[in-house]
Amino acid sequence: MSYKHNDFYAQKARKENFAARSVYKLEEIDRKYKLLKKDFFVIDLGASPGSWMQYTSKIVGDNGMILGIDLKPIEVKLKNGINIQADLNEVNMQVLFDKYKIEKKADAVVSDMAPNTSSNRFTDQARSIELCMLALDTAKRFLKPRGHFVCKIFDGEDAMTFRDEVKNNFEECYTFRPKSTQASSKEFCGGEVL
Ligand SMILES: C[S@@+](CC[C@H](N)C(=O)[O-])C[C@H]1O[C@@H](n2cnc3c(N)ncnc32)[C@H](O)[C@@H]1O
Repeated sequence: MSYKHNDFYAQKARKENFAARSVYKLEEIDRKYKLLKKDFFVIDLGASPGSWMQYTSKIVGDNGMILGIDLKPIEVKLKNGINIQADLNEVNMQVLFDKYKIEKKADAVVSDMAPNTSSNRFTDQARSIELCMLALDTAKRFLKPRGHFVCKIFDGEDAMTFRDEVKNNFEECYTFRPKSTQASSKEFCGGEVL
């Protein structure tokens, strides 16, 4: 399968100074589900290079905050953003909350985390599910009641198991494939309310 580097959304992202084309997925989800609001505190998992943080930063404004975590360095520097380079498997979120004097739970937890893809789609999907479970666990511990959780997942049989897990924990649960998702990609996103 070929990956189109120079597609419409990649060019649009460059023109609009976003760090990645992924921004248009979050924008679409936000428009559809009214996810983000002014003054929100948002935890962004798998945040590098930083386009979701850039988008969120504008919406939450100066009194809002985004805590971005990624294995790789987050390239964007935002005055309402905290960039953490770490593996979410190893990060102690409570220590981060204490370090940055964060005293409230998040209004939204968003995860665009994705494994490095291999030639084996079953392996990729299993890794994607592991990351989703990690994101869900973070949401369960650090999201406020009625907060929102968005999670990207690679489609496949196990995705339905993950969806059921989300349904058991949230009042509402939706699955959605943004238009800007690559045609060759197996991913879709869920938007949920705790
Ligand atoms: C599609 S990219 C995210 C793009 C980002 N949302 C943006 O808008 O710029 C997926 C990211 O998930 C990160 N990731 C994968 N496993 C992770 C883990 N265990 N902990 C933290 N980040 C992880 C990868 O390093 C990668 O940067």
